[in-house]
Amino acid sequence: MSILFHTTFTNEKEWFDEIKKKFKKQKIYKISDKPDFKEIEFAIIWNLPNNILSKLENLKIIFSLGAGVDHILKLTSYNKTPIVRLNDPNMAIRMAYHVLSQILNYQLKLNIYQKAQHKKKWLSEIEPLFNNQIQVGILGLGYLGTFVGKYLKKLNYNVIGYKKSLARTNTTFPIYTKRSLDKFIKTSDIIVSILPFTDETTNLIDLNFLKKMKKESLLINVGRGESINEKELIKHMKSNYKFFVSLDVFKKEPLPKNHPFWKLPNVTITPHVASLSVINSAIKHIYKRLVHFQKSGKITSDVDLKKGY
Ligand code: OXD
Repeated sequence: MSILFHTTFTNEKEWFDEIKKKFKKQKIYKISDKPDFKEIEFAIIWNLPNNILSKLENLKIIFSLGAGVDHILKLTSYNKTPIVRLNDPNMAIRMAYHVLSQILNYQLKLNIYQKAQHKKKWLSEIEPLFNNQIQVGILGLGYLGTFVGKYLKKLNYNVIGYKKSLARTNTTFPIYTKRSLDKFIKTSDIIVSILPFTDETTNLIDLNFLKKMKKESLLINVGRGESINEKELIKHMKSNYKFFVSLDVFKKEPLPKNHPFWKLPNVTITPHVASLSVINSAIKHIYKRLVHFQKSGKITSDVDLKKGY
């Protein structure tokens, strides 16, 4: 049994070493080993080039090294091979910490004080709101979105969620669907986008959406950059100085040096780190699913190709 491992993560070597330790009996290859691609049955990947996927004719399972699978579905040579994604509680906790940090940065006005610090300015105090005075709307209730919503709810925020349809959702907070999206947008003080990249989510957050948000509010994007029409967001940010944005994901990553976001005063930029994959638990998860497949001969894909995520 042969496995192809490929990632663009900067700590690629650490991942490779840990995978080799766990999969002692299997042959693990990288592209640079120039394996016989026809022998590869399993691929553990993040951002595999399309021309390599097209050579993997006998692939049985693709393991995504993240929660997202758009890096696989976008490849033209992807031909419905079952996909296993990381649904890892450790990643969900990381995501919740990140989102909470961005909420508190805004809620406690730390973003404003930090700017003043750079100008050596001692600001007069601005009274912050309590958690139960703030409505947080979670846009996208997949595994991570649902976890983050429940986490914030436990901290007394007024949480609401948005999902395309109500099917299979187990939450502790109210859910809005397509028909009530306007109300979801208009009543939220903070919107957290944790949407996957699909045709339907592309540019969902456009000028029309942004204009419905409260003038004094916060938009956090930890899903995919494709969900936001960046040009329209920049326009909106320039004319609404009390509107703040926290972006972890972008249409183009790394964010180009000349991108206007870098210069705007009302944005916090982080380099796609909100929910980094956790090496040990990710490898355990992949190993468990692989062993189960070997014993049972069965694999259920984690991806619904009709929904596109
Ligand atoms: C993921 C991500 O999909 O970090 O896991 O974007």
